Amino acid sequence: MSEELKLINGYPAYMRESIEKVEKTRPRRMKETFRKLTLEEREELLRKYHPDYKPGTKRPIKVGPNKGDQAPHEFVDLLEAHPLLNPKEVDLNNVDYEPDILIIGAGGAGMTAALWAINEGTPPEKILIVTKLRIGDSNSVMSQGGLQAADRPQDSPMRHFLDMMGGGHFTNDPDIVREFVKDAPFMVKWLEDLGLMFDKEEDGSLVERFGGGTTIKRLHSCKDYTGMEIVRVLRDEVRNKQVPVLEFTSAIELILDDEGKCAGAVLLNMENRNYYVAKAKATILATGGYGRLHIQGFPTTNHYGATADGLVLAYHVGCRLRDMDATQYHPTGAAYPEQIVGLLITEKVRGMGAQVVNKNGEQFVFPLEPRDVEASALIRECWDRNNGVVTPTGMRGVWLDSPMIEEIQGPGTIQANLPAMYRMYKRFGIDMTKDPILVFPTLHYQNGGVVINTQAETDVKGLFAAGEVEGGPHGKNRLMGNSIMDYLVYGRRAGIFASRYVKKATIGKLSLDHVYRYEKWLEEAGIKTERKAPILLPDYRGKEVLARALDIYLT
Ligand code: FUM
Repeated sequence: MSEELKLINGYPAYMRESIEKVEKTRPRRMKETFRKLTLEEREELLRKYHPDYKPGTKRPIKVGPNKGDQAPHEFVDLLEAHPLLNPKEVDLNNVDYEPDILIIGAGGAGMTAALWAINEGTPPEKILIVTKLRIGDSNSVMSQGGLQAADRPQDSPMRHFLDMMGGGHFTNDPDIVREFVKDAPFMVKWLEDLGLMFDKEEDGSLVERFGGGTTIKRLHSCKDYTGMEIVRVLRDEVRNKQVPVLEFTSAIELILDDEGKCAGAVLLNMENRNYYVAKAKATILATGGYGRLHIQGFPTTNHYGATADGLVLAYHVGCRLRDMDATQYHPTGAAYPEQIVGLLITEKVRGMGAQVVNKNGEQFVFPLEPRDVEASALIRECWDRNNGVVTPTGMRGVWLDSPMIEEIQGPGTIQANLPAMYRMYKRFGIDMTKDPILVFPTLHYQNGGVVINTQAETDVKGLFAAGEVEGGPHGKNRLMGNSIMDYLVYGRRAGIFASRYVKKATIGKLSLDHVYRYEKWLEEAGIKTERKAPILLPDYRGKEVLARALDIYLT
């Protein structure tokens, strides 16, 4: 190994020169506040550097309710694919499960929906949760930084509303946002009542922090494993209530009845590959997002199952989608070491005082711009201004000056507030209390999704959606801390309104005719393909490690 690549406290020797510059400029930077960008500057930065604006990365959808809308190729490929299920292989007269409410997905949204359906009067045994992995396996469990709720006298739901709308460039659905911000404080209280251990001040009040694009401290967290703590509580509750859960079972097609109402789903057991028919009066999609499509080759923070299944199922039955042209790239994914490339470095690190600096140790952006703006600034610094640090595998990144946190707030702050991240870096010999960490944007969230109303109803009667699979709350850019709150608020609403709906609903003759209709749409659009969707799991066979293919900004 060359001298340059020898590791010194976790970093190759050649990176040490840049780290020394970061250390040298730190005392000066500690006294400086980098100015926020004006709205015009933000817009220009986005247009020039945000991946959503990169030419050639999207195409118009050729079939279905969103015909003509632009979306990333990787996603349009799934809409322009044959349905995975051949209806002839399923006998709909042979019903295997008959819950009142079928919930597809067992992350935060699915579990919240189940619990609130029970609160609304649906007996637990009349609910069935299906998940293609295990209960809790989801982006929900991986979230780190926290959730937003305007629950302090100096804050207000109206202010939360304005922050969300501004962050989303006013493309959000205002009705959906209004209910979101109104419900948020209640959802925090609900979690606390279930036993959630939020970070607290000495007087017992919740700790609050800034998130990118927020005008006030509004973020509550559980150290840097907020998602794990929430899922612990929700999963316990679902188990305590004895809600039936089928693990390793995917929904591969929705079932309609002869009146066009949703009437359940065809399930695929991922172990024995058998199909099962689940007939239900109401179905709730809680399937999460599409990070594992690796839009534009980006690495992702997302869990293994984030493959857009719910979007595909909803589209097959005629639901509209929205804002699918907007993908969220979290500004700070790990760029080094290689083993953790793309993993989330929570915004809380910046919220606690760490600045983002280039290879010369200079700040180039206010650390808490809205996510899309911040990510664009990092991309510009690395690829346009050539001020990034190049890793041994050819990635580029900039420094997140984590030792600043301890300079500002005292020794031990990082271990107390970011214990999971501290340990993650320690495994690779890096002490983030002493050395900065290298970051670059990573695919984090699907901003858009299935169109819903404030009762979490989709365009198809009997079909509800909650969490990342739906669109509207965030418009074209979600702010930090609003994904957890989204699955809580709309998971609860899906549970409540599905429960009310099933009290009166009837089911007609089961049908998969929409699958034939979809095939006809494909044929009429002249689409000839071998592709099938939903894909259920990502396929990494025979491909280069995605992180190493990150040369997208070289061209
Ligand atoms: O940075 C984070 O901790 C991510 C939070 C979020 O996406 O809401």
